[in-house]
Amino acid sequence: MPVFLTNHYTVSDVHINTRQIIVGAERLLDLCNVADYGLSILLINDREMAQLNSRYRGKNAPTNVLSFPFLDGADDTISSLPIKELGDIIISVDTARREAESSRRTLLERLTWLIIHGLLHLTGYDHERSKKDALLMQERENELISRLQTNRSKPMTHLAINVDHIATIRQARGTIEPDPVTAAAICELAGASGIVVHLREDRRHIQDRDVKLLRQTVKTKLNLEMGAAREIIDIALDIRPDMVTLVPEKRLELTTEGGLNVTGQKKKLAKTIKEMTNAGIPVSLFIDPDLKQIKASHDIGATFVEIHTGRYCDAVSEKERDYEFHLIASAAQEADRLGLRVNAGHGLDYRTTARIAALDVIDELSIGHAVITRAVFTGLKHAVREMLDIIRSAGHGFF
Ligand code: PXP
Repeated sequence: MPVFLTNHYTVSDVHINTRQIIVGAERLLDLCNVADYGLSILLINDREMAQLNSRYRGKNAPTNVLSFPFLDGADDTISSLPIKELGDIIISVDTARREAESSRRTLLERLTWLIIHGLLHLTGYDHERSKKDALLMQERENELISRLQTNRSKPMTHLAINVDHIATIRQARGTIEPDPVTAAAICELAGASGIVVHLREDRRHIQDRDVKLLRQTVKTKLNLEMGAAREIIDIALDIRPDMVTLVPEKRLELTTEGGLNVTGQKKKLAKTIKEMTNAGIPVSLFIDPDLKQIKASHDIGATFVEIHTGRYCDAVSEKERDYEFHLIASAAQEADRLGLRVNAGHGLDYRTTARIAALDVIDELSIGHAVITRAVFTGLKHAVREMLDIIRSAGHGFF
């Protein structure tokens, strides 16, 4: 049975992807074992919602969601319905927008949560009945959200391996071994879809010679990570990697710390992007999971964004990790909606990767430290394959 969506919400600067909402709602019906029932969803504004809320609940204010079961009565169960109709879910998009903003989620995420909430009411859950019922409903909401997040429809997320640390070991002795060029070949043979190296201005690990040789030997895709400094831009224009990722670079940092402040240096970054794209080199901007940075990246013509996963990986509690995960999921979704291609990376390891890899809109993960350090014990080929197994079985996400 179809999901029938009517969109009465016509605010010109608000894009509502009705197709995606319908697909998500149909999947929810499936997850709730009511895929053969019809469901109506109506999107309205606060004024209309206030009228409904006043008429049906005696409350003179808008609310986020109302649900009206097809048959309203204490003894009715879904299976007793004469026709296979669940009823109506009515959502105020004005309220959903405010809630999305205050909880730093995308509008789509918030609408999806409200649909889940409404659907659970239509299928017999009621958080107002008792504390126990409220808990039950909340648990079911969380379960449905996470099941939507882990059911992807796009091909598997790619894995690009950052081989900087191989060069770090070489530089520690100032010799010629181990060679990041050899490491890159092993990673490709093990199934990596790309090789990443960061040519830093201080040349602490990767050297100019490495990038030149990698350009000749990498058969998948060479992604040159770099600061937007003139000297390095010229090298990139000369060597022509398959793409560049612009990152902030500080002399004293151990590794790249935060994401780029795109909003604060739009002009400078736009100029570098233009130079690169004129030379046929797509540009990715390494940014924190922040909707303002996503928009600015889109505004100045980036092809990709790479979303910084560091805070998610470094989280010290499950609650904090969950919070950071949702920021990444929202940012990735928004970037995808704007037409940006989405990569992610930094700090990902054998525990934290699966959840990120399950996000449908992420093209590629850039992973270095975890794989190279595991390789010390297991060998590089094995370490890459283990990571690929995790990504392969990570599932596919709706958000
Ligand atoms: N992405 C970017 C932009 C980075 O700077 C780094 C670190 O070099 C990575 C991904 C990989 O991070 P890690 O080595 O923690 O996997």
